Amino acid sequence: MEVLRTIAAVRAARRAVAGSVGLVPTMGYLHEGHLALVEAARAADDCLFVSIFVNPSQFGPNEAFATYPRDEERDLELLDAAGVDYVFLPEASAIYPPGFATTVDVGAVAEPLEGKFRPGHFRGVATVVLKLLQIVRPDRAYFGQKDAQQLAVVRRLVRDLDLEVEVVALPTVRDANGLALSSRNVRLSPVEREAAPVLWQALSLAREIWTRGARDAETYRRRLRELIDAEPLARIDYVSVADPETLEELERIKGAALISLAVRIGEVRLIDNVVLGAD
Ligand code: PAJ
Repeated sequence: MEVLRTIAAVRAARRAVAGSVGLVPTMGYLHEGHLALVEAARAADDCLFVSIFVNPSQFGPNEAFATYPRDEERDLELLDAAGVDYVFLPEASAIYPPGFATTVDVGAVAEPLEGKFRPGHFRGVATVVLKLLQIVRPDRAYFGQKDAQQLAVVRRLVRDLDLEVEVVALPTVRDANGLALSSRNVRLSPVEREAAPVLWQALSLAREIWTRGARDAETYRRRLRELIDAEPLARIDYVSVADPETLEELERIKGAALISLAVRIGEVRLIDNVVLGAD
């Protein structure tokens, strides 16, 4: 495995690859969720790039960019063991040199949900993902369903700008209690960690309601809110029942529905989702 820190070095490595190239973009502090993307990419592509870049432009002024967890040495060990060929680990100044000015705005899909609570977040995500795709030029790029709106934003970006890449989405990896793995989970205190599976309990309730045949979206929002509100440490940012592609809120569920949640447990903001009726 080779660690590349400059765009020129990535381009040179990319040019030398004969087969298909996969890219897994990450912000590091890797867990089994990231490694599931790496594994899928390893199985599908001949050459595998992983990027580790804590992207400053996707953090708001009150968000913890400076304290975002980092562990470069451990990340590199995990990626080496997973059979990754190249890790792109740029400095912020390589991605955003002096004079950098162009940003990408994907429109309506970035506005609700996370977009509302984190203004500018998806502009930062879309801009850095486009740059990473341009630098590595992968045949396939791998993303987690865990960040459902990010996935919708990336799909919009790829479609609208005719990017020649296949976006591959992988299911959310969870711990034994259903808590979706996230680099932010390390911030949860022991009592908060016991409260955090309330997100998965709410999503499981949604699946149950679905199985029983309810299709009125408000029923889902109300029942999930009631369940989460019963957990004293939980504060709801949103409970959404939306179209998985456009993220428009639904009144009635006709085809597939994305049930997504953002809940603060103490100071830690957690998001999670399930898609119902996709098959
Ligand atoms: P990061 O939060 O490090 O996540 C990197 C990738 O791992 C994303 O595609 C995310 O959806 C996926 N992922 C995270 N937790 C997961 C889990 N429990 N199960 C499955 N996949 C999971 O998302 C970002 O970084 C950044 O926004 C990035 C796309 C790299 C742009 O800066």
